[in-house]
Amino acid sequence: MSDKCWVYIEAAKKGKSKTDTLFLKLKITIHMKDNRRDFLKLTGLAGLGVASGIMNGFANETEKYPVLSEYEKFGDQQFNMCGYAAPKIDTVRVGFIGLGQRGPSHLNNMTKLGGVSIVGLCDLREDHVLKAQKQVDNSAHKPTLYSGNKDAWKKLCDRKDVDLIYIATPWALHVPMAVYAMEQGKHVAIEVPAAKTMDECWQLVKTSERTKKHCMMLENCCYDFFELMTLNMARQGFFGDIVHAEGAYIHYLLDENFDKNAYWDMWRLKENIGRNGNLYPTHGLGPVCQVMNINRGDKLDYLVSMSGNDFMMGEKAKELAAKDDFYKAYVNKPYRGNMNTTVIRTNKGRTIMIQHDVTSPNVYSRIHKISGTKGSALKYPLPGKIAMGHEKWLSEEEMKSMEEKYQPAIVKKVGEMAKQVGGHGGMDFLMDWRLIDCLRNGLPLDQDVYDAALWSAIAPLSEKSVANRSTSVDIPDFTKGAWKQNMPVDILLERGGTTTVKI
Ligand SMILES: NC(=O)c1ccc[n+]([C@@H]2O[C@H](COP(=O)([O-])OP(=O)(O)OC[C@H]3O[C@@H](n4cnc5c(N)ncnc54)[C@H](O)[C@@H]3O)[C@@H](O)[C@H]2O)c1
Repeated sequence: MSDKCWVYIEAAKKGKSKTDTLFLKLKITIHMKDNRRDFLKLTGLAGLGVASGIMNGFANETEKYPVLSEYEKFGDQQFNMCGYAAPKIDTVRVGFIGLGQRGPSHLNNMTKLGGVSIVGLCDLREDHVLKAQKQVDNSAHKPTLYSGNKDAWKKLCDRKDVDLIYIATPWALHVPMAVYAMEQGKHVAIEVPAAKTMDECWQLVKTSERTKKHCMMLENCCYDFFELMTLNMARQGFFGDIVHAEGAYIHYLLDENFDKNAYWDMWRLKENIGRNGNLYPTHGLGPVCQVMNINRGDKLDYLVSMSGNDFMMGEKAKELAAKDDFYKAYVNKPYRGNMNTTVIRTNKGRTIMIQHDVTSPNVYSRIHKISGTKGSALKYPLPGKIAMGHEKWLSEEEMKSMEEKYQPAIVKKVGEMAKQVGGHGGMDFLMDWRLIDCLRNGLPLDQDVYDAALWSAIAPLSEKSVANRSTSVDIPDFTKGAWKQNMPVDILLERGGTTTVKI
């Protein structure tokens, strides 16, 4: 294999601090297998002491994934998965990994869809698998059960008769599971965030491109009713040019995170120790990126991110430890600053503000503000509001006619059924229906691997900015320039829509 790539060599400026460095940019041609060690050896850079981390700023991550070479990150796109239509699958055979709080909700949705066969259920804990099996009792679905050890999920992925793997496990397991499943020829749907580190983001992109398997992040907030309506309004020019957007994940989870029995092995609380930034950016970011056609006409350029201190998690740990020795292990830990605010600038000069706070006792909000040259929208605090000028929000009556006018096709088709099924008010069902319908009709997915990587990448990039006094951090282009030609998400439902629903 041969290709050209850019190489960055770091050289410390004489007499300056270690961090004050000079980057030399070289373009070289390489002939190699996709292996980092070979790459360094062949280019002679190993001898120059060039560390992998220099090239992406995340030195320790490449160690976790030695198979991902720097060549891959700097090389061209292998295949454009944006707009990619995989061969039609008449009956989508689905396997589930992770049946804690979230997995069973997707399973429930799948039992309501025509053209779906549930073939496997996997969780580390057998009781969770058995409980999930009860959801398909008295149905035509006869899934095989997998549990009992941490690698049982591989057996599910190894099967030949599986088309799609749903992954609803703790964050650290998403990428290893998704990469393995794609390598075994399966499409994957991963819960949010899809990846934790920059290297993991690239792993997803490169594996999806190489295997031509869909890698969708299950960003359900893109399918909430107000968000879908504003996407449709944006497409029809209601807002004019979009100037600015805001999103957030402000959700009081303090008690749940400290609850021994809520999340498996208290993984979610542990994520909040030693990481400081916006750990959960995708709920707020996904919908506004779709409205702004990010990765499809515009791209995220750079961000700055700021976190305050922790005022609550450390205190909570102390309070609990006073009554229960179990919590002593959680005292005096480096907890994440409670509120993080990240500001992003796009290539077209538009801005996005994203917030994250899951500890302060706030009313739930994802903000969802769209600000354009002709109009604006603001979802939270509920109810959602629209304005056509600067003076006032539309009245309740005017809002109703807006909803009728701008209701997107997917809502007209399955919106009422989705509300009946529930799952965050119906958005989960709309998402699962749409994913299955796209696979069954051989249509591109609304969210591709570049969206999964980009929206997830804001977490590690915000950590990097926070750790450096909110300095600006470049956001990589996972599409490798294809964003200039990629088509916007299809919301017209001109094709497909054939998947039946039985409630
Ligand atoms: N989109 C949303 O609205 C939404 C809502 C909640 C959670 N989530 C996401 O869903 C995912 C799961 O969250 P959750 O709340 O269900 O967590 P959870 O702790 O309740 O469930 C995780 C499950 O994974 C299982 N697991 C752990 N290691 C495993 C292994 N090696 N093999 C198989 N199973 C394993 C655990 O036993 C557990 O049942 C997370 O990514 C979370 O961010 C998304």
